Amino acid sequence: MAKYLVTGAAGFIGSSLVRGLLERGEQVRGIDNFSTGRRDNLAEVLDRMDFREADILDLDAMHQACAGVDYVLHQAAIPSVPKSLLDPLGSNRANVDGTVNVLVAARDAKVKRVVYAASSSAYGDTPTLPKHEAMIPSPISPYAVAKLASELYMVAFYRCYGLETVSLRYFNVFGPRQDPSSAYSGVLAKFSMQMLQGETPTIFGDGETSRDFTYIDNAVSANLLACSAPAAECAGRVFNCATGRRTTLKETFDALKPLTDYKGTVKYGPERGGDIKHSLADITEAQKHLGYKVLVDFEDGLRRTVEWYKKQGQTVGA
Ligand code: UD1
Repeated sequence: MAKYLVTGAAGFIGSSLVRGLLERGEQVRGIDNFSTGRRDNLAEVLDRMDFREADILDLDAMHQACAGVDYVLHQAAIPSVPKSLLDPLGSNRANVDGTVNVLVAARDAKVKRVVYAASSSAYGDTPTLPKHEAMIPSPISPYAVAKLASELYMVAFYRCYGLETVSLRYFNVFGPRQDPSSAYSGVLAKFSMQMLQGETPTIFGDGETSRDFTYIDNAVSANLLACSAPAAECAGRVFNCATGRRTTLKETFDALKPLTDYKGTVKYGPERGGDIKHSLADITEAQKHLGYKVLVDFEDGLRRTVEWYKKQGQTVGA
């Protein structure tokens, strides 16, 4: 049984990783400062893990959190493009300084490997599709720059200190527990909830913007594989974490209609600053070096997600 530290454990992806690890019988420690995470996300698993309320910017707390840990899954971040446009300093502190703290603490504690939640936004708005890891990054938002900088720190800590690191460039991860309620929420969470409640969703742009929407179970599996793959295959490297298929915003609205029983229309608004137009991953490298497979496709993932939000609505509304 190995010991894992999940940073951002109360967030959508972090709490899903905690569950995935506990299901496999692993020992889990989690930290979160609740800046975007919610205690509710961990409700029924809190008694089976070592949870600590702490900020990744607190180096002492990070040293304590890393003590005795084999693997760190670093998910803590302020994960929003528009938020980074409003507050680039805050984005940089959480998404870059925070990562360097995690790396220093992991290095000092002699952790075996750190797996990092990198972002497809690093590719930027380059026209080439699909995006593959050998492409030169071209980030266009402060958020994307911060995520890329952290990725480079991951590589540097492997090269300079021998700390094994793997970066997974997430492509629009979605699924149960993704917060639908903020202005910065992921589009599928937001649309699912709005349409279930009979509210009209808004597409920013012409509806042709596309994303490689990745169901959460695929991201959890990629993290576990990134911990177990031989170092020769993955240490100091970056991998896309996606499905290799893209869906436009207009298509997501059409797919959600029957699932949410929504009879209304959709509004169109101006394009959002810092957004990229299309995103699609080449997942060959992850398949080859991590043994990664797409476990749940877009349609199935969307069905599971809407079912979960429906159940939440029943519990809250009952
Ligand atoms: C998302 C993640 C980011 C991650 C990146 C790559 C979120 C909140 N952000 O960024 O952390 O690094 O993927 O994996 O999950 N949109 C609408 N209407 C809305 C909301 C959004 O049309 O009400 C549009 C946006 O303008 C954008 C697209 O939907 O074109 C996707 O937006 P969003 O879900 O916020 O994700 P990304 O910005 O792609």
